[in-house]
Amino acid sequence: MTLAQAKARHARLVEEIRGHDHAYYVEAAPTISDQAYDRLYHELLDLELQFPDLVTPDSPSQRVGGQPLTAFKPVQHLSPMMSLDNTYSQEEVRDFVARVQRLIPEGKLEWIVEPKVDGVAINLRFENGVFTCGATRGDGTTGDDVTSNLKTIRGIPGRLRGAAKKMPEVVEVRGEVYLPKAAFTRLNAERVAAGDEPFANPRNSAAGSLKQLDPRLVAKRPLDIIVYGLGVFQGAEPPKEHDEVLAWLKAAGFKTPEKTWKCYSAEELLAAINELDGMRRKFLYETDGAVIKLNSFALRQKIGFTAKAPRWAIAYKYAAEQAETKLKSITIQVGRTGALTPVAELEPVFLAGSTISRATLHNEDELRRKDIRVGDTVTIEKAGEVIPAVVGVVLTKRTGKETKFVFPKTCPECGSQVARTDGNSSGEEGVVWRCVNPDCPAQVRGRLEHWCARGAMDIEGGGEALVGQLVKNGLVHDVADLYKLTLDELSGLERMGEKSAQNFLEGIQASKSRDMWRLMFGLGILHVGAGVAKALGKCFATVDDVFAASIPQLTEIEDVGEVIAHSLVHWHSEARNRKLIDRLRAAELNFKSALYNPSAALGPFAGKTFVLTGTLPTLKREEAAAKIEALGGKVSGSVSKKTDYVVAGEEAGSKLEKAQKLGVKIIDEEELLKLLGG
Ligand code: IVH
Repeated sequence: MTLAQAKARHARLVEEIRGHDHAYYVEAAPTISDQAYDRLYHELLDLELQFPDLVTPDSPSQRVGGQPLTAFKPVQHLSPMMSLDNTYSQEEVRDFVARVQRLIPEGKLEWIVEPKVDGVAINLRFENGVFTCGATRGDGTTGDDVTSNLKTIRGIPGRLRGAAKKMPEVVEVRGEVYLPKAAFTRLNAERVAAGDEPFANPRNSAAGSLKQLDPRLVAKRPLDIIVYGLGVFQGAEPPKEHDEVLAWLKAAGFKTPEKTWKCYSAEELLAAINELDGMRRKFLYETDGAVIKLNSFALRQKIGFTAKAPRWAIAYKYAAEQAETKLKSITIQVGRTGALTPVAELEPVFLAGSTISRATLHNEDELRRKDIRVGDTVTIEKAGEVIPAVVGVVLTKRTGKETKFVFPKTCPECGSQVARTDGNSSGEEGVVWRCVNPDCPAQVRGRLEHWCARGAMDIEGGGEALVGQLVKNGLVHDVADLYKLTLDELSGLERMGEKSAQNFLEGIQASKSRDMWRLMFGLGILHVGAGVAKALGKCFATVDDVFAASIPQLTEIEDVGEVIAHSLVHWHSEARNRKLIDRLRAAELNFKSALYNPSAALGPFAGKTFVLTGTLPTLKREEAAAKIEALGGKVSGSVSKKTDYVVAGEEAGSKLEKAQKLGVKIIDEEELLKLLGG
């Protein structure tokens, strides 16, 4: 065969296979037998073997397995991926519609209702129609590059199908990757058989699959995708309505929500939500709600976004599903902060897509309040991804043979004393019993796992299994010890190959340069979550500056209240913690904050909320907002008691009235400029 002939045959084969893929995976209507498909596919592979130059990144042969990666590269979305506000009641849906109508008094509102797919949010970038990059949502701005894994999903076209209109030069397609319910059940059965921990729900299994570093393993999981939106759309006329987006996506070769509703009032929306609830259990994928979206993009633009979510859309979450089962026993789990959590060991029961055999009982008070006894029949509940919880006892099923649980007076892990403090210097009594021994192996393991976690220092491999071994073998006592581990020590551990040991060491090395907020979060200081750690990162240049700050200085920061400030100061008042910081410094970890913004840090407007309304004489609204934010202030879209200033311009409307009613300080542009320092 000549090269020209091979090229022509290759092009034919690619086109044919793509057509069959679409028919099979998107339309669910195969056009040829599996054997005939395999013949075409193998012909393609043979041809590419003979003429390697014919292999293109979007060839169907490239789906099943690029090389394993050692880590996912971060990738910035071209436009941010927002989240949605949630509602749980009919009343909230009505309020939402009324709120949007108030913002668009003149408009007739047209809404679209779609199923809320319970999967993993994904952004797919296509350049001149070719799939070039796919990423997880991450923090909304930057996600993980999981392109190789996404290429294994047949529902993602390697090349967009000839859309009726001009192909955009760059387009971002947004959707949800999921593992179909049936595949989830099968996968879990296999995992249990192999002695692995089963996934808690289909969503976790999709997330876990996408996080696999080896695309060949991902290819074995029948992941699928439903798309419902766009990010950037460059180089062609963009759609003007959500309806049009869905039609465009469908024409481009994607699976879109299988049923949508067009509604014109809150009552119509509620009827659609109800109808969806009646049919969603039959869908092949898990759903946890309905998404309500304004159809018109012009109207969407008019009302914009809050800090994290659009004002023009909302998610309605269906009530959690419940099941009844027997409580066999109660065990105590000791967490990284020493908290003793009672756990219900249950007769396994199938609930909302997965089998539950354990559920949290929260704390001793909760156990008493609900009078939960061993042997009781209990109601359990699972809301979305939340850990299943015991809601209460089915008293009618009590036989009298049930026994009360006696909460332990010592730590079941290390035998130390337990105390009911909130872990801060105030010594205040909390509801949680905590083991007071900081060297308790359960706490040590918990702290190490937390340090290595994705959201903290992101050290791949530092999960329960490895951390358990490191602690058991006395190799690591605290997070600073990780930085002294050697290849020899790691390779000597059970079920640890040299390659994994090497990867773990590389992960540890890479963690040295993480931004300061991750380190602050990773320390596991009580009440210091990722959000607080980021707020600290914005206001302080270094770790040392954080710990040098006084309680009043700390409470100046938005998101940092008395409890958090005390917790930080208390943590650092302990000699062992100060020593830990010194050892991390000696191990050359990055102590500097890339988020640090001196003008925002404790700026004159720190913690102050402004609302802008009406037309200002000289400043555009965005300019005024930027100036306020540069000095640490926050600009909000609506007036409440918490608003510090309303800046009113000409033709200020209802916000001004509300400010007057609530007694919020009202200023004009001149006064604002004065506050801004002229
Ligand atoms: S629209 C600006 N539509 O739900 C936000 N999201 O809770 C646009 N999701 O992050 C999102 N099904 O991952 C949209 N039909 C649907 C959805 C959907 C599931 C997810 C998505 C989003 C999350 C928010």
